[in-house]
Amino acid sequence: MGEQDRDAAALEALRWLIEAGADEAVAEAAVDRYAVAAAPPSVAKTPASPPRIATSELSPRPPDPSPPVWAPVAAPPAPPQELLEDARRLAAAAADLNALHDSIRAFDGCSLKQSATNTVIYRGNPESKIMLIGEAPGREEDLQGRPFVGAAGQLLDRLLTWAGFDPEDVFITNLLFWRPPGNRTPETREIALCLPFIERHIVLMQPEYLLLIGNVSTQALLGQKGGITRLRGRWFPYSQEGLGAPVPAMAMLHPAFLLRQPAQKRLAWRDILAFREAVTGGIKAI
Ligand code: URA
Repeated sequence: MGEQDRDAAALEALRWLIEAGADEAVAEAAVDRYAVAAAPPSVAKTPASPPRIATSELSPRPPDPSPPVWAPVAAPPAPPQELLEDARRLAAAAADLNALHDSIRAFDGCSLKQSATNTVIYRGNPESKIMLIGEAPGREEDLQGRPFVGAAGQLLDRLLTWAGFDPEDVFITNLLFWRPPGNRTPETREIALCLPFIERHIVLMQPEYLLLIGNVSTQALLGQKGGITRLRGRWFPYSQEGLGAPVPAMAMLHPAFLLRQPAQKRLAWRDILAFREAVTGGIKAI
């Protein structure tokens, strides 16, 4: 196996782990469990279980001066201060939802806009007290200019409906208003430039409940340590200037993840039912 193939296999393995829910590194260096297991002779003599991966491909590599492909890369540059100030000024100046949506459409500071077909802002009921915030538009959303209308959105609607919500009667938006090319994970600077708009969105909506869909919106809005697999199903107070009181916010697994990992739907189901129960019964305390 050549170096390129090996790197591609490592990347593929990393992708698989992320999709399976691994969202945190627990050590500085990877541990080759196959090599560890192969070490004691007694283990080596026991009848081998069917090999899943050729261990020769996974045996320790010779020392490599270049960093492993999964090493954290340098943080992407922060957005230029003037763009950030532009976003904050435009968002703060919006007196109502319509003005805010016009400001978002007029904002050219986020480079994602250049490759996007449409600015995707919201669907559902702007008067709703329940606000759902996803990550970013995907292909279908970019084409139609409405959030959560692709396969993930259809699953979200099914979950909402099963739990007793009318998807047309909640307010559904995203942290980012433009599709990241190829649906890649949004970069820190892209999130930073959209954040003033979503924060203003929350202040103008004054929601009674927030449902944060997926890791990216959960991290950006709650700033909690830990990934979505630890944070999902829990309540957090969301506070910011302009809100009378902290808003109870729950995080849930992203439906795009559920499409790839259907076994995890039971967790999403449990979370959305708990969310529904809080909304109908009135949450006691966070
Ligand atoms: N995923 C999201 O987070 N938002 C969408 O609008 C569609 C898919």
